[in-house]
Amino acid sequence: MEGIFIGVLCLSGCLTFSTCLLHQYHFVSDAMNWTEAQSYCRETYTDLATIENTEEMKKLKDTVSAAGHSSEVWIGLYSHIDWKWSDGFNKSGAEYRRWHHNRPNYLAANELCVVQLKSGTWFDIGCHMKKAFVCYRGTLEDSDFVLVNTAKNWSEAQRHCREHFRDLATVRNNADRDKIQNIIYPLRWAWIGLYRDPQIYWSDGSNYSFSSWYQDYNRLGSMKVVCGVADLKKGGKWRLFSCEERKPFVCYSMRGWCFLE
Ligand SMILES: *[C@@H]1O[C@H](CO)[C@@H](O)[C@H](O)[C@H]1NC(C)=O
Ligand SMILES: *[C@@H]1O[C@H](CO)[C@@H](O)[C@H](O)[C@H]1NC(C)=O
Ligand SMILES: *[C@@H]1O[C@H](CO)[C@@H](O)[C@H](O)[C@H]1NC(C)=O
Ligand SMILES: *[C@@H]1O[C@H](CO)[C@@H](O)[C@H](O)[C@H]1NC(C)=O
Repeated sequence: MEGIFIGVLCLSGCLTFSTCLLHQYHFVSDAMNWTEAQSYCRETYTDLATIENTEEMKKLKDTVSAAGHSSEVWIGLYSHIDWKWSDGFNKSGAEYRRWHHNRPNYLAANELCVVQLKSGTWFDIGCHMKKAFVCYRGTLEDSDFVLVNTAKNWSEAQRHCREHFRDLATVRNNADRDKIQNIIYPLRWAWIGLYRDPQIYWSDGSNYSFSSWYQDYNRLGSMKVVCGVADLKKGGKWRLFSCEERKPFVCYSMRGWCFLE
């Protein structure tokens, strides 16, 4: 009787019914790199763990704790580190960088926009922060940089530059950087046009909409691809590491009972 009752409930709302979770998690204690862990999960279950809400987060933590593990485990999360210029510039000089020591550090994986400091080096900071900014007008070949000393977040600054000048500043070489350094000198820092396109994905292609990042530094230097763990030492919150590191991991399989019963 109970089975039929659940079946009826699920017909009308299985995907949202809170006890009808789709992902059944499986902890694997063998330490593997992320791609090996992915292959293992795909062969043995469905894929590396996808986590779509706080209940699933709790379920994954419970699964790992029950197995006696209390540190980092790979989950199905990975990210392409892809820095872009606001004006889309992608020719010679687009890769010019002048990071401050220990930057970029991808704070909580959501620190996606770049300021130039008055010392001339670059920080990645939250795009929501309100800062002065540097636009350019004319052409990139003969760029004329303009400091706008009004505090705006990065996207507001971008809009302002596009309306009144050309775009946020693209910095292709030391000469561009020096020109900008000269005009921002009285300030501590100002936005430039560099931002990180988040490009965060789940191994199984699920939509990345729910997130549970640990609010701390991820010092990832110049890595191009990074992979996600749930860190049981940090309440299961997510952090990014080199995909080459070897760690235990969590797979999932589809839980069929709520459809079948
Ligand atoms: C550079 O950008 C242009 C225009 O958006 C695009 O057509 C081209 O494919 C890009 N080149 C590279 C190497 O990404
Ligand atoms: C920037 O400010 C605008 C307007 O106040 C707001 O709509 C937008 O969400 C802000 N962006 C960020 C990343 O905080
Ligand atoms: C992914 O999520 C976004 C925002 O929640 C939504 O607009 C989009 O349609 C979703 N895509 C898929 C494939 O479910
Ligand atoms: C994981 O290990 C395999 C086998 O040792 C290797 O071929 C692969 O490149 C490694 N993947 C990463 C992301 O380090």
